[in-house]
Order: sequence, then structure tokens, then C-alpha cells
Amino acid sequence: MMRKVTLETVFTHPITQKYLQRSGIAHAVAVAEYAYIFAKRFDVDANLATKAALLHDVGHYTWYRDGKWDFDLYKENDIHAIKGAARAHKLLIRIGEDRHAAKEIAVAILLHTDSYLPSGQLELKPLQKIVAMADEADEEQGGNHHYKRISKEDALERIRALDKMIAVGEFNQSNSHVAFM
Ligand SMILES: [Fe+2]
Repeated sequence: MMRKVTLETVFTHPITQKYLQRSGIAHAVAVAEYAYIFAKRFDVDANLATKAALLHDVGHYTWYRDGKWDFDLYKENDIHAIKGAARAHKLLIRIGEDRHAAKEIAVAILLHTDSYLPSGQLELKPLQKIVAMADEADEEQGGNHHYKRISKEDALERIRALDKMIAVGEFNQSNSHVAFM
């Protein structure tokens, strides 16, 4: 069965484009690619993992003071994971995503960082773990991963490549019984 909502549909939506400018398109694409790899390795739904990864930072607010990013203000007041979860959920529902999938993706975004949560251990589901791992895998010192650049064409090409791999994976899964006949 074809997916109703592809990564390309999510990625090219004006809302995604607007909010991903803040945290960096290059970072979002790279994290989606890591999420795909981890999803395959740990047997997690690659469709959900890559969508959550692509959208994990859409909740960022711009913490500028006098034209410069204010790290202290950010650290003190940031709720980008909460905002991102809600924003991503609203967008996904709007573009026709399955309700259950939209919820799973939103919760994975909510839990991709614990920087705003009270201390203690949460027991994360594999999908949630993978999205957090993928984000960490692309992290650079001093938040430099948010400033990496990529051309529009390259970004779209990499998103389409992921869509293709996910589609092939789902096709193989739905036809896997054939191999045993
Ligand atoms: Fe991130």
C-alpha cells in the first residue's frame, strides 16, 4: 500500500519550510537519514522514525537579543520539543496523515530531548529512542549543526531518496509471504 503522506509532502509544506529555517534544513535532513538507518537496524517503523526526525526541531523559537542568539535565554526558557510536537501534529493531521501515526510521531518529538524535563529516567519506546539517537548523531559542538547549509535541490533529492527506500521496504514487507511459497 502506498503511503498517503510522504516525506516529500511533509518537507515541501510551507509550514515545515518556515520553521525548519530556524533550526536548519541540513540538520533536519541528516537526522532523518540517521533515523532511517537506526530504524532498519532496530526494526522500528522507518516511516514514523524519519517523519519524526525530519520534524523534531520545528518547535524552535528564535532566541535573539540585539541581533544575536542568546544561549542563556534559550536554556532558561526553551520548550521547543513541546512546541514542535504540537506543531508537527497539527501539520500532519492537516495534510492527511493517519491519526495514530501523527500521535506516535508527535510523542517521539516531545521526548527527543529531556533538557526541559524534571530529572529522572523515562522508559522510552524504540521509536522515541531512535529519534533522540539520530538527533545526537548529527550534533556538533556549540550547536553548529543548526548552521550547516544545504541547497534546496540537494535537500529535496535526499528526501526523495529516503521516500524511495521506505516505499521499497514497505513493498517487500507486504510481499514477504511470497518468498515462502
Ligand atoms: Fe536537533
